[in-house]
Amino acid sequence: MTKTVSTTAHGSALTTAVLGRRPFRGWLVSAAATVMTTYGVDLAATGFGLLLVTLVSGLGLAHGVVVAAWVASYVVWWLGLRVNLQANVNLLERTGTSTNLLSKGAFDLATRLGGDRRTRRLAACAAYLAAELALEVPYYVGAFGLAAFTDLVSTDNALMFLTGANLGAAVAVYAVARATHHVLTRRFASFETDWVPGDYLADYYSRVEPDEEETIAYFVEAMRQVPAGRPMLFFGVGPTLHHVFLAATVASEIHLGDYLPGNLAEIRRWLDHDPEAHDWRPFVRYTLQCEGVARPTDAEVSAREELTRQRVTRLVEVDGRVPAVKTGDYSTVVSAYCADSATSDHASWSAFMGHVLDRVGVEGRLLTAALRRSSGYHVGGRYFPSAHVDERDVRAVIEAAWGQGTASVETRHLPAQAAHGYDGIVLAQARRPSGGNGVA
Ligand SMILES: C[S@@+](CC[C@H](N)C(=O)[O-])C[C@H]1O[C@@H](n2cnc3c(N)ncnc32)[C@H](O)[C@@H]1O
Repeated sequence: MTKTVSTTAHGSALTTAVLGRRPFRGWLVSAAATVMTTYGVDLAATGFGLLLVTLVSGLGLAHGVVVAAWVASYVVWWLGLRVNLQANVNLLERTGTSTNLLSKGAFDLATRLGGDRRTRRLAACAAYLAAELALEVPYYVGAFGLAAFTDLVSTDNALMFLTGANLGAAVAVYAVARATHHVLTRRFASFETDWVPGDYLADYYSRVEPDEEETIAYFVEAMRQVPAGRPMLFFGVGPTLHHVFLAATVASEIHLGDYLPGNLAEIRRWLDHDPEAHDWRPFVRYTLQCEGVARPTDAEVSAREELTRQRVTRLVEVDGRVPAVKTGDYSTVVSAYCADSATSDHASWSAFMGHVLDRVGVEGRLLTAALRRSSGYHVGGRYFPSAHVDERDVRAVIEAAWGQGTASVETRHLPAQAAHGYDGIVLAQARRPSGGNGVA
């Protein structure tokens, strides 16, 4: 089941997200990048081609060897290009720009026509490949033209030139891929050096924002299906407790996990009644309302806070990038805005999610939430990455691990959140079947 709830009518969030809010800037940047990369690749290809001819033309290589080298050079060229195609689609998804104008055009067109992620990526790669193949034509015309109509160049020399050109192009496109990757990773702030728990709390948790109204309401409902009286893990909880209050009446004990000790220290302050700790009372009140208490009193809010303090028995450092040492040890894992908000590409997100899923025991539950099709979000004026996932990705990653029909996925469109860097969220719950992974 994939359900979509829209809080306001909104045109095409995806088009805005992918094509950007300043589309002309995207085209200008792509045009400049295309000129630079085409010029660079041409320079490298011609240089390597001439160098190879100069180096080997006097060696008297057999024609078969020359032909074999020419064929092999295409394999090397393809390997370099493949890395660059991947980097280019990442760049398109996250910034709306490309190192190839044709590729950007194909990607934007596929987006406007409502193509899914795979179609958009395929369109971008096909167009890039077509442009690269078209650039081969002048080399063939030049090399074989000289060989056919003059005595200056033999056929083998022409093939050697093309072999060198392919190798040069491979090196150059690989360099373009590395540069693209560098631009993408430099653009984002890092958790290790830039994350300030207080900034995150001030920017997102000064009041109950629309995304959290939706997330908490969804988790409260999902909690009704969760096995009671068992330990529960919150994976990537950050410096927050707003999702923990709804688990306090269900879990026997609660373990809170995050990558950053600074986040856990912030939670510790709240557990210890530090007067400087964040005020979660508006979130507790909203949680109680979602549970059916129409007007929660101050005493009821305080009682839930105290119950939560009693239930939280462990604060643990976790790292979703690496497999869990102990798997399947929780009957319920809650992981909200973690894997998607800690990774910058689909492959890393998918691996991260796999490690979170592994923590859930047989017949246990995962409750999760992700920013929808977001490239990143702002915290304290810094820009952190998001893996640009959507409801299909979330369903696919869960069902690949646990089998068809194990996940229930919903989306919420939240245009009011756009200033943070996203205008939708994905909410999901899943039950790990008995009989091992992949069996529904
Ligand atoms: C956007 S915050 C979400 C926090 C909280 N779940 C919430 O809903 O507000 C992303 C969290 O992912 C955590 N994180 C970053 N890298 C991580 C990693 N490798 N393993 C586990 N958590 C990580 C960060 O410390 C941060 O707390």
